[in-house]
Amino acid sequence: MPESTPVDPSLPPRIGIVTVSDRASRGDYEDLGGPAIRDYLREVLTTSFEPHAVIIPDEQSLIEAELARLADHLGCCLIVTTGGTGPALRDVTPEATEAVCEKLMPGFGELMRKVSLEKVPTAILSRQTAGIRGQSLIINLPGQPKAIRECLDAVFPAVPYCIDLIGGPFLETDPDRLEAFRPKKK
Ligand code: MTE
Repeated sequence: MPESTPVDPSLPPRIGIVTVSDRASRGDYEDLGGPAIRDYLREVLTTSFEPHAVIIPDEQSLIEAELARLADHLGCCLIVTTGGTGPALRDVTPEATEAVCEKLMPGFGELMRKVSLEKVPTAILSRQTAGIRGQSLIINLPGQPKAIRECLDAVFPAVPYCIDLIGGPFLETDPDRLEAFRPKKK
């Protein structure tokens, strides 16, 4: 288990948003994915949270370092990445995610690909995954801004309970927008 800075439970939970893109990190185009993730989270979560957004190139060592910093030093309970999940040579976000996680959560990628395939046949090209590092849940999304809502709508009902199970903060959602599913205690 990685060394981590203790999280102050009286402060709003932190959520990391990582745009992985050579071109957005050089400023060749505007990052639309990071703001779309932040807006989605603001729409769905009623718990106020502190977003920490970064834009980095498709460089495995940099992605790993950023995920580790957000998880261990900033204590983000959730980290959502966008981009770098495809088959191209420089697409290495899933490899970086797998390298920094102690546990993989393959159900996230499976479900996101399933719902995405109903929208676009090239959804099969995304190797997006998810995993746990310490008390952080890391979820990969494809780089297409419209994929963000399509994928998060599918998996987000299970996200708050997953964060409960790893000892994170109690996240609440707006039930009119998206109901967080927590199994009843036996
Ligand atoms: N998933 C959804 N929901 N919507 C999309 O438009 N695009 C696909 C796929 N998954 C897409 C999607 C495409 S075209 C690619 S190449 C892969 O995600 C990988 O994208 P990435 O390398 O930008 O992460």
